[in-house]
Amino acid sequence: MRLRGSMSTTYTLDTSTSRANPTPAPMRRLTVPKIRARKVDGVTAEPIVMLTAYTARQAQLLDPHCDLLLVGDSLGQVIYGLPSTVPVTMEMMANHAAAVVRGSYHAVVVVDMPFGAYEASPGTAFAAAARLLKESGAAAVKLEGGEAMAETVAFLTQRGIPVMGHVGLTPQAVNVLGGYAARGRSDAEAAKIVGDAKALEEAGAFAVVVEGVLEPIAIEVTKSISCPTIGIGASAQCDGQVLVTEDMLGMFERVPRFVKKYGDIAATIGETAAQYAKEVRARSFPGPEQLYQPKD
Ligand code: KIV
Repeated sequence: MRLRGSMSTTYTLDTSTSRANPTPAPMRRLTVPKIRARKVDGVTAEPIVMLTAYTARQAQLLDPHCDLLLVGDSLGQVIYGLPSTVPVTMEMMANHAAAVVRGSYHAVVVVDMPFGAYEASPGTAFAAAARLLKESGAAAVKLEGGEAMAETVAFLTQRGIPVMGHVGLTPQAVNVLGGYAARGRSDAEAAKIVGDAKALEEAGAFAVVVEGVLEPIAIEVTKSISCPTIGIGASAQCDGQVLVTEDMLGMFERVPRFVKKYGDIAATIGETAAQYAKEVRARSFPGPEQLYQPKD
């Protein structure tokens, strides 16, 4: 696979040397301002569609259907089998984000800042975010946390880095939260989540993910801020929705309550592998169509 124009953010796959089958027609990529502008006077007529993507081929398949592709740090669990998102590294995020940019043509690619790369100071966050955008060609970063991260969000956005916020259940804080239960069951916690989202919006976030909160809180956040909210375990009244792609494809048996399984990819993979194994053991694969014979 060869990259053309690697100094630009428009990455093109060379199909002649690749198994990939990218979109043939030239397509203009959506932009962060266009996503932000979907919400007008508190109303988002066209809900924003976001899914996670970690690989080039996955990005190609999802891209025509999505406004945003999120290279989520959920890749720690989904791809690397890690126990949480806490051990995810900058290298993992930069490499997977570059693959997703190479495989997409239309959606805005957003890359998660991994735990430990941005919390210490706005300057540290800027260096990490700039590295992720330079190495991948992604258009924006996402970071977790509310009011405590507002100064950092302002620092990044004022210096050319679009930021998506993330409030409510913030998985990188699992060691503080003690688990992945829905947030906002006390009045104080509910008020904090709404305040966090407002602080991020005022700091310049172009959108805010609202994860794992009681539905009335997600509705209140969506009404209270002028930039779009992207819900996950939140409310259909959010301005958009996101899911982890493998979750909604049915890759895992155990998924959070908020996941709807739109497919049963785990069964398809199991059945397909079983058929392959059967044919190998029966010596019926490879067959004549898969073999090379000497020319007469
Ligand atoms: O890491 C991730 O995939 C996320 C989404 C679930 C919002 O942050």
